[in-house]
Amino acid sequence: MIHIPKSEYSRRRRALMAQMEPNSIAILPAAAVAIRNRDVEHVYRQDSDFQYLSGFPEPQAVLVLIPGRQHGEYILFCRERNPERELWDGLRAGQEGAIRDFGADDAFPITDIDDILPGLIEGRDRVYSAMGSNPEFDRHLMEWINVIRSKANLGAQPPNEYVALDHLLHDMRLYKSAAEVKVMREAARISAQAHVRAMQASRVGLHEFSLEAELDYEFRKGGAKMPAYGSIVAAGRNSCILHYQQNDAVLKDGDLVLIDAGCEIDCYASDITRTWPVNGKYSPEQKAIYELVLAAQEAAFAEIAPNKHWNQAHEATVRVITTGLVELGLLQGNVDELIASEAYKAFYMHRAGHWLGMDVHDVGEYRVGGEWRVLEVGMALTVEPGIYIAPDNQSVAKKWRGIGVRIEDDVVVTKSGCEILTKGVPKTVAEIEALMAQARTQAA
Ligand code: GLY
Ligand code: MN
Ligand code: MN
Repeated sequence: MIHIPKSEYSRRRRALMAQMEPNSIAILPAAAVAIRNRDVEHVYRQDSDFQYLSGFPEPQAVLVLIPGRQHGEYILFCRERNPERELWDGLRAGQEGAIRDFGADDAFPITDIDDILPGLIEGRDRVYSAMGSNPEFDRHLMEWINVIRSKANLGAQPPNEYVALDHLLHDMRLYKSAAEVKVMREAARISAQAHVRAMQASRVGLHEFSLEAELDYEFRKGGAKMPAYGSIVAAGRNSCILHYQQNDAVLKDGDLVLIDAGCEIDCYASDITRTWPVNGKYSPEQKAIYELVLAAQEAAFAEIAPNKHWNQAHEATVRVITTGLVELGLLQGNVDELIASEAYKAFYMHRAGHWLGMDVHDVGEYRVGGEWRVLEVGMALTVEPGIYIAPDNQSVAKKWRGIGVRIEDDVVVTKSGCEILTKGVPKTVAEIEALMAQARTQAA
């Protein structure tokens, strides 16, 4: 199995500690368990920041980094071993496992945190934490600080500075290492296979969720435990709903189906969209829109390279799409003016992409000092232009209404441009129609 090696987690902790100010402490909580209904829990997914620094997959844990601490810089609070609970809920690393298997210098039961953590914080000048993203944890942190404050008359020294960890950590996460790119390539490969399988299975009369089943099958069979986000399987007019989640409509003859889905591996996401005709053949209008979106995506790829800025790819898609919409008669007027007035937003209302990594919409600044961020080697992003013609858009001829097309691929910036991670899914009209025709012949 392709995964992030243990040595990488330790390298990340060292890199973060090297950037922390002297005499400081960083404290991060694991993700909370989310209840689905009554006593049923959602599948547990570790918090991405916590995972990035630890690779520790359990809930009810707190990670502490204290650069320069003689008795160990990396401390993990986690659940104790418990044969009765483990019989019902699964194995726990316990404190021994945290040290042996996850590289902690020291580990304590999570139930002892109120007694131990104030002592670790005391005397440090600065506390780094993800303030604001987890109100319950923020409250705990203030309680621990108040324990120290209440002992000020005994000489206890509470920290004076509270610093958001996000800036340091999220900038690190933005630059993908060779090991991270390898994992993302694998997630992309499996997701590409899943899209191919859904194309092959596409038939009039199935439900959207039948195609979702094909995706899920291929994700798991390929080695991914779960999707990186709720799969979007949107047929017909549903393709115009950007984050459609219902996935329960019937696939009708003449409809397009837009699938936006990707799996995650070791908490690294992939994010692919393809749009194809349910019956295997694009109508002339569907084909015209599809080829315009594809041309926009090609133009965007050409703008992804070191020293180009974040917005160049988006600007390229806006120009191609606006020009094409005028040529098709869907917009009227001068292209530059239509771009300036953002007239294209009636059809193309989202951006051309986002950072991609442990979170599908990954962390990392898009602007630095008021300017668009300049791309650098190792940054990963999606490229996903789209055109959505609302079913009730009275200003266009009826034949266009209800067509929604998005094409999305994942790329990593390289020295000479970018590597497309998701090449494994057909993309031209000819390729998709050929793949679908072949699947039908084989099934017949
Ligand atoms: N899957 C959500 C997106 O493409 O951004
Ligand atoms: Mn997507
Ligand atoms: Mn995306």
